[in-house]
Amino acid sequence: MSKENDSVLRFYHEVLGLERLHYGLWLEKDQLTIDKLKEAQIRYENFLMEKIPEGVRSILDVGCGTGILAKNLLEKGYAVEGLSPDFHQQKNFTENIQAPFHHMRFGHLDLENYFDCLIMSESSQYIRKEKLFPTAAKALKNNGYLMVCDYFVWEKKNNELTKSGHLYNSFLNMAKAAGFKLLEERDITGSVVKTLCIGKEFVEKVLLTVEIFTQKFRSRHPFLSRLSKRLFRKKIAKLSSQMELLDAEAFKANKTYRFLLFQIEK
Ligand SMILES: C[S@@+](CC[C@H](N)C(=O)[O-])C[C@H]1O[C@@H](n2cnc3c(N)ncnc32)[C@H](O)[C@@H]1O
Repeated sequence: MSKENDSVLRFYHEVLGLERLHYGLWLEKDQLTIDKLKEAQIRYENFLMEKIPEGVRSILDVGCGTGILAKNLLEKGYAVEGLSPDFHQQKNFTENIQAPFHHMRFGHLDLENYFDCLIMSESSQYIRKEKLFPTAAKALKNNGYLMVCDYFVWEKKNNELTKSGHLYNSFLNMAKAAGFKLLEERDITGSVVKTLCIGKEFVEKVLLTVEIFTQKFRSRHPFLSRLSKRLFRKKIAKLSSQMELLDAEAFKANKTYRFLLFQIEK
């Protein structure tokens, strides 16, 4: 997992206390509150489950995070398995979910004609696409489905914002070359970005609080204040480049969040 992705995820998980590791699907009228974010995340999971084609029984939740989707799928009667290279996610899954778990990177999975459907919910971006499609094609039964819901970038630039996410057009081309037919493609960028807005609003409030509480110190000790600014110059620069990751407009200009449903023809 790249450090940039990791810090955004850790922020939502550890600072905002969210159980789920994905953006969610917001309604236009939704206010920016944590409760609405939690509702959006549940709406997103329901959306994915509704999109599972008829006839599917066995599912691999690739990059299963906290395992909530896998748990819901189990309750719906699917034969679910989870996969993640993360040690904590393995521990959580095996302790709380009665289903097989593969503790590995997806590219190392070596199963043949095994699953009816693979779900990659915000996990495809962590998997090298050169590995993703051949591994998926092998693990799926003939006419099996690959569901991908994730963000992609239009172009790789030399900035934090476009470091994570596959290049969209080359991702689609690679899928085609590996024998995957695109059955459904939906642009849901507009319905996910409020998650960034709420994160940004939160960080700005924290920064403002720090500003207010250090005001007295700065006016009484201008020299020390300038010195600490200089000492922490790198950290401050890093923080402002990380803030860009929470900018909804920059996200929309550089990225696209897509729901994709493929079917393999072997
Ligand atoms: C953003 S989280 C998404 C978690 C979950 N699918 C969800 O929607 O909440 C990304 C997930 O991908 C997993 N991951 C990272 N690298 C991976 C890899 N090479 N193969 C499979 N999963 C990976 C992470 O451990 C994490 O579970």
